Amino acid sequence: MSRTNKRVCLKSRPGENSAPSVDNFHVEDCEFPEVQDGQILVKTLYLSADPYMRCRMNLDTGTDYMSPWKLDDTIDGSGVGVVIESRNSSFSRGEILESFHWPWKQYATFDVQGFNCLIVNKVEPTLVEKHYSLMLGLYGVSGLSGLVGIREKGHITKDSKQTCVVSAAAGSCGSVAGQVARLEGCSNVVGICGSDEKCAYITEDLGFQHAINYKTQDVVEQLSETCPNGVDVYFDNVGASISDTVIKQMNKNSHIVLCGQIAVYNTDLPYPPPLSQETQDILQERNITRERFLILNYVDQFPNSIAQLHLWYKTGAIKFRETVAESLDAAPEAFISMMTGGNIGKQIVHVADP
Ligand SMILES: NC(=O)c1ccc[n+]([C@@H]2O[C@H](COP(=O)([O-])OP(=O)(O)OC[C@H]3O[C@@H](n4cnc5c(N)ncnc54)[C@H](OP(=O)(O)O)[C@@H]3O)[C@@H](O)[C@H]2O)c1
Repeated sequence: MSRTNKRVCLKSRPGENSAPSVDNFHVEDCEFPEVQDGQILVKTLYLSADPYMRCRMNLDTGTDYMSPWKLDDTIDGSGVGVVIESRNSSFSRGEILESFHWPWKQYATFDVQGFNCLIVNKVEPTLVEKHYSLMLGLYGVSGLSGLVGIREKGHITKDSKQTCVVSAAAGSCGSVAGQVARLEGCSNVVGICGSDEKCAYITEDLGFQHAINYKTQDVVEQLSETCPNGVDVYFDNVGASISDTVIKQMNKNSHIVLCGQIAVYNTDLPYPPPLSQETQDILQERNITRERFLILNYVDQFPNSIAQLHLWYKTGAIKFRETVAESLDAAPEAFISMMTGGNIGKQIVHVADP
């Protein structure tokens, strides 16, 4: 086994009102960890690049459930790895683990018991069948948000011919949300996304009825054309002007799934950002619900939701794509690329094989 090690650190903060860049990160050699009694030594296999990480680059993340990354420290996020040495009787060499706080390192030791331990879960081999990165996408927070968000906040009723619009529709959450909306009974699912390739993907591969490229098409016009009966459910991943436009075409008593607002993550606006008076008036006049949705509030639903996604995936009812960056060195670029629309499906970093 190689005794060299590498990690990704936060070198500088972009500033709350600026876009992040790869220069905010530093990939550097670091010590190979020694395993102490009670610990496990893990090799990182896959890391997840997620929009919420942009908030962790700020000193003030704007939330109480996310801490800021510290300067010059190893950053962390969702990850999957394999136990390569165990000095803890609850874990064995070869077991695959996942955690929401996986350090962006090739090798790390974890304290897995005691007060300050890292919460890790063993990955069920039959669930992933060696496709370990699914734990970060389809069976991770974004896939789960697509399913639970639609079910908890979408109010879809079978056979009622509802129209669902999804923004960032070719991304990890959006691609799942749109497919779930179809499976739950919507007769018209419209995705808004940022390239013709993404539009083709969601209509030809995922079964969305229509796609709108917000970078090249008139969204107002396209929405009127593709949603002749108005919008009943809006799965909102982006916020800002795209959402204002969708909300204008929403029906009375319709519902917004407030999943994310990526269009304003490079600003110091609070979350959720304030709406314009015009948009607020529309929500009130038409009795449109827009409750905040946070997947971490539904941890009790994870096992059943993962089982549902697994069933749909195995039977081909749901498709799921990944954009994979190769090596830890490529991780900062993968994160920046995802923030600027470079991904289709889930943005993953492949660090090593088991
Ligand atoms: N509520 C929760 O518990 C929860 C959990 C997970 C994620 N989220 C939120 O869900 C959203 C999607 O997350 P994800 O992990 O699935 O990411 P993703 O959609 O796979 O990737 C982000 C996508 O956002 C789009 N985007 C970036 N800047 C944009 C802008 N200014 N305007 C419009 N679109 C923009 C890009 O696609 P285009 O090419 O289409 O622009 C990019 O590919 C994020 O807002 C995230 O914070 C919420």
